[in-house]
Amino acid sequence: MLLEGKTLLITGVLMDSSIAFHVAKLAQEEGAKVILTSFGRTMKITQTIAKRLPELPPVVELDVSDQSHLDSLAERLREHTDSLDGVLHSIGFAPQGAFNFLEGSWEDVATAIQISSYSLKSLGVACLPLMSEGGSIVGLTFDAKFAWPVYDWMGVAKAAFESTNRYLARDLGPKGIRCNLVAAGPIRTTAAKSIPGFEQFERVWDERAPLGWDVGDPVPTAKACTVLLSDWFPATTGEIVHVDGGVHAMGQ
Ligand SMILES: NC(=O)c1ccc[n+]([C@@H]2O[C@H](COP(=O)([O-])OP(=O)(O)OC[C@H]3O[C@@H](n4cnc5c(N)ncnc54)[C@H](O)[C@@H]3O)[C@@H](O)[C@H]2O)c1
Repeated sequence: MLLEGKTLLITGVLMDSSIAFHVAKLAQEEGAKVILTSFGRTMKITQTIAKRLPELPPVVELDVSDQSHLDSLAERLREHTDSLDGVLHSIGFAPQGAFNFLEGSWEDVATAIQISSYSLKSLGVACLPLMSEGGSIVGLTFDAKFAWPVYDWMGVAKAAFESTNRYLARDLGPKGIRCNLVAAGPIRTTAAKSIPGFEQFERVWDERAPLGWDVGDPVPTAKACTVLLSDWFPATTGEIVHVDGGVHAMGQ
C-alpha cells in the first residue's frame, strides 16, 4: 500500500464533495492514519461527514486565520500522534467582494490572501514540530498563470499561493520536507459553488481538455495528492502537477 505506516494531517474536509474528503478516503485505503481539521460551526459538519470514511478519524480544530489555533496545533495533534509524514492543505476562501477585480476592497483581498495563500506557510510552520523526520506538504491550486473569467482576486491569491509553495520548498527542503501543489481543473465543491459564474470554467474545460474533464469527479485530483503525499516523488519539490485533463498545455 502506498501510504502504509504513514500519518497524515488533512485539512479541508467540509462535505463529501470536498477534494480533501477523497484524499482522506484514498489515503486510508492506502494504509495511512488520517487526522482531519475543521473549525467553528463547520466542526460538526466535518465530524458527520467523517463517518463516511472507511475509518473514523479524529477532527482537530484549526482556523488558519486564528494564530492561537496555529500556535497550539502541534500540541493538540500530539494527543493523536507523535509525528506527521504528510500534510494536505485544501483550504480556500475569499469574500464575495473579491470576485470583482476592479471593485474588490483591500479588506476582502487581504482576507483571501491570508486564508488562501499565507496559510500554506502558517500550516507548514505549525506542523514542523511533528515533522522532524521530513515529509510531504501538498496543496491545491487553480492554475494562476492566467487571468480567468470571474476568479479575480482569488486568482491573485492563487498566484501568491503558488509562489508561497516555492519559498516553502526552499526553506523546508533542508529539513527533508517536500512542498508541491496539484493544479486541478474545476470541480463542483462548496468552495466552487460560492464563486459567482463558476459555470464559465466548466465551459472552458468542456471545449479545451484533450482528455475530457468531469466536474463531478474529484478522484483524479485526489489520486495525484495521494501520490505526492507518498514516497513516490522523493526528489520533487516546489512543483505544480496539473490534473486538468490537459487544458494547461493547450493554446486554444
Ligand atoms: N473546486 C475546484 O474547482 C478547485 C479547483 C482547483 C483548486 N481548488 C482548491 O481546492 C481546495 C479545496 O477546495 P474544495 O474545492 O475541495 O472546496 P471545499 O469547500 O470542499 O473546501 C474548502 C475548505 O476550506 C476550508 N476553510 C475555509 N476557510 C478556512 C479557514 N479560515 N481555516 C481553515 N479551513 C478553512 C473550509 O472549511 C473547507 O473545508 C481549495 O484550495 C480550492 O481553491 C478547487
